Amino acid sequence: MLMASNIGLRYGKRILFDNVNLKFENNNCYGLIGANGAGKSTFLKILSGEVDSTSGEVIIGKGERMSFLVQNHNAYDDYNVLDTVIMGDQELYDIRTEKDALYMKEDFTNEDGIRAGILEDLFLKKNGWQADADAAVLLDGLGIEASLHNKMMRDLKEADKVKVMLARALFGEPDILLLDEPTNGLDLDSKSWLEEFLIDFKNTVIVISHDRYFLNKVCTHMVDIDYEKMTMFAGNYDFWYQSSQLIQKQMRDSNKKKEEKIAELQDFIRRFSANASKSKQATSRKKSLEKIVLDDIKPSSRRYPFIQFEPERLLGKEVIQIDSVSKIIDGVEVLKNMRLTLKPGDKIALIGNNEIAKTALLEILAGISTPDSGTVKVGTTVISSYYPKKNDDYFNVDKDMVEWLREYSPVKEDAFVRGFLGRMLFSGEEALKKVNVLSGGEKVRCMLSKMMLEHGNLLLLDEPTNHLDMESITSLDEGLSKFQGCIVYATYDQHLIETIANRIIEIHEDGSYTDKEMTYEEYLKKYGK
Ligand SMILES: Nc1ncnc2c1ncn2[C@@H]1O[C@H](COP(=O)(O)OP(=O)(O)OP(=O)(O)O)[C@@H](O)[C@H]1O
Ligand SMILES: [Mg+2]
Repeated sequence: MLMASNIGLRYGKRILFDNVNLKFENNNCYGLIGANGAGKSTFLKILSGEVDSTSGEVIIGKGERMSFLVQNHNAYDDYNVLDTVIMGDQELYDIRTEKDALYMKEDFTNEDGIRAGILEDLFLKKNGWQADADAAVLLDGLGIEASLHNKMMRDLKEADKVKVMLARALFGEPDILLLDEPTNGLDLDSKSWLEEFLIDFKNTVIVISHDRYFLNKVCTHMVDIDYEKMTMFAGNYDFWYQSSQLIQKQMRDSNKKKEEKIAELQDFIRRFSANASKSKQATSRKKSLEKIVLDDIKPSSRRYPFIQFEPERLLGKEVIQIDSVSKIIDGVEVLKNMRLTLKPGDKIALIGNNEIAKTALLEILAGISTPDSGTVKVGTTVISSYYPKKNDDYFNVDKDMVEWLREYSPVKEDAFVRGFLGRMLFSGEEALKKVNVLSGGEKVRCMLSKMMLEHGNLLLLDEPTNHLDMESITSLDEGLSKFQGCIVYATYDQHLIETIANRIIEIHEDGSYTDKEMTYEEYLKKYGK
């Protein structure tokens, strides 16, 4: 059991939410929804104790343990897989780290000996010798083979990273599981695996997601953050959507009735105020009029950003030609003898579960990585604009958003940069936030702004819909559909493949590929599994 009692949070003048009173119980799965930047991740951080709320308190059942899968799946890139899992029990991990560091010392003193003794004791009590084996069992269960257990997290593909992060969250059997956008970067197989897992999970789950299909499948309850309020509904996403539409409609109907009544009363008052014999009634109606309060209807604060990519110049005939390209990563040939000619109107979706290969190809096309063999010829008219899957490095700076975007903007005036940010839904004070506090989706909106300012005629995108809310995905879809240049993009978002691609390249697990000029629907019909 987990309870939020009167929780409120504000950053400066901005109230994220206020007076939140919610109870989360066993056997339920709560889907936390809301626009990018609404405060979902922050709310989970308050529940986990990582962020202090401005008011209220979090109450957790006696002896219950909570664990958390964070939104940033790159947070453990510098650790190896087994350690990442064991870190799920931070206390145990700390004991082990301190103990190991002591034994590594060359000048091991008496005091070190005493400290080591204490640590050994604690380690034993926590069943520390069993930790590696426990972690390995969890990983095996999630399909992470033993050969990956000692790899660094940075070398894993996203779908595997999420599984390791999940193993970390599950290490030590938590009573409450908090998951922040676990489906980001998951291929379809891993996603269905996670769905089954959550449906079977007996304790309390709170999961943030922008994926309607996933929410419908796993959630028993929805919690919506909008206009500084959090509201809980029993039922899945579709049920929430329909009920919230219904409530709106009822409010509109009731307002309409009230407005009619108001008009009627006002009419009476106007006609009879001056009339001595009726003035008493007129006064009483004035009182009734004052009592009618219209419902405050706020449809939703969810908004569509304006996404439009305008090439600085048109592409010539020659875009990019790659010939006999191979790429080896970690001893594995991820691209094998690839031959590819990009044409000006191509909108190419890179599909398949070989994520590392797709990223490698995009990096080669973007010119930030070179193949191990083969040639890459880039046409002279090409201005390429690259959207990387990982954007952490761009935001680890002490700058506000206006300063950040100005660097990428050809026009440096404040008004221009702010106008641009406004179109991407950062207006007024919001544009003066430091970029390192931005939410996952807000960072993506910034990266897309940067791309729009680059005015490329070749767009290279690696999983651009991760973190984005449904409205922003729709805007991105429109922006890419209208784009006049060439696009190569990797995504697991079926809809984005269907609506945009006119050519499909599937990279297989062994580095070979299938390249067909057709829509996704046609491709599936002919080559689908
Ligand atoms: N230290 C801070 N100072 C000011 N604003 C902050 C700070 N930390 C977070 N914010 C803002 O609070 C808002 C909520 O952030 P949060 O990460 O909780 O959003 P979210 O709902 O998880 O969004 P997303 O769907 O994009 O992940 C964002 O607008 C973010 O920029
Ligand atoms: Mg978030």
